[in-house]
Amino acid sequence: MTELIRASGATDFEEIAAFQRRAFGHEWLKSERHRLQRPEYYRWKYSPPAGSAWLVFVRSGQELVAMLAAVPFEQAAGQGGSTTWQICDIATDPRFRRRGLFARCLAALAEAVPTDVTFCFPNKQSRAGLIKAGYAVSSTLRLRGGPILGLAMRQMNDARASSIDAVECGSAFQIDPRRHGSIRRSPEFLRWRYGAHPFNSYLAVTTSHTGSIIRRLFSGRVALVLETWGGSDEERRAGRDAARRWAKGAGCMALLWAQDPLAAAQAGRTRLDAWQRPWDILCYARSNSQPSPRGTTERLHVHLGDWDAV
Ligand SMILES: CC(C)(COP(=O)(O)OP(=O)(O)OC[C@H]1O[C@@H](n2cnc3c(N)ncnc32)[C@H](O)[C@@H]1OP(=O)(O)O)[C@@H](O)C(=O)NCCC(=O)NCCS
Repeated sequence: MTELIRASGATDFEEIAAFQRRAFGHEWLKSERHRLQRPEYYRWKYSPPAGSAWLVFVRSGQELVAMLAAVPFEQAAGQGGSTTWQICDIATDPRFRRRGLFARCLAALAEAVPTDVTFCFPNKQSRAGLIKAGYAVSSTLRLRGGPILGLAMRQMNDARASSIDAVECGSAFQIDPRRHGSIRRSPEFLRWRYGAHPFNSYLAVTTSHTGSIIRRLFSGRVALVLETWGGSDEERRAGRDAARRWAKGAGCMALLWAQDPLAAAQAGRTRLDAWQRPWDILCYARSNSQPSPRGTTERLHVHLGDWDAV
């Protein structure tokens, strides 16, 4: 039996968390995911400001055996201002795989949101299923990183770091609306995204025209830049430099960020102090109303950090 519902207070988040843990299993390398697979996380994630998530469940009797979620975001005005949906938490119980249940979930979702763009950052297991359902690669991101050279020590520096201040970030993103990327950064969105996460804390490092949002990983040794804002490429680079200075002052040993390799090449950015990790993160997208969503999803990647899936 396939169920298509909107997440609500009546949703059984305990059941979802238990199912996700069962379906994904536990690998040491993926301990970050395991840490998040708790009811509070899904309760938060399925209620962004743009509305509640669509949930597709397949049951065998009463038992949940497959599911996926689609979380809505408001597109920036330049992108049409409509809703776009990130598909996530794709999972089938190991005993029920290769029977078409993922395909069935995707078909049910396509009925719920027939004209909107849907996108996903799939792992290798789900890519073939997405392609069969009409998805295509819309953009590629490369995880990049660099060591923080010099003696890392806890010190004050000129980049101001504070707990996230959603209002402050809201005004920072208004510097240039084109820098919103595909998702509108309303104050409500920023408050939900960075202020209301049940398990992660984020920092905004700001300078006068630019800044970055950062999370610390691996007991604070690594700083991950989730997004940077500014009115020009130079300002965005300055935002990342501010993040680097902050991370150095905070005793971090490395900085990580995700970047579209095509956009970086066009901007002539090849920094010698950056490592390029071999992991490309692919964004798959599909739209029933437009010929191809290619390009429109190029800057959806900040949502990668939503699930902190790096
Ligand atoms: C990914 C996953 C949800 C697929 O679920 P499923 O119900 O087995 O998928 P389906 O039976 O609907 O398969 C759809 C298509 O995907 C492809 N596919 C599914 N599993 C595959 C596998 N192990 N290897 C290669 N192709 C596969 C096939 O093309 C299949 O179509 P076909 O059976 O007609 O050949 C499931 O393997 C899973 O839960 N994996 C662990 C959790 C996970 O990694 N989720 C993805 C997060 S992005």
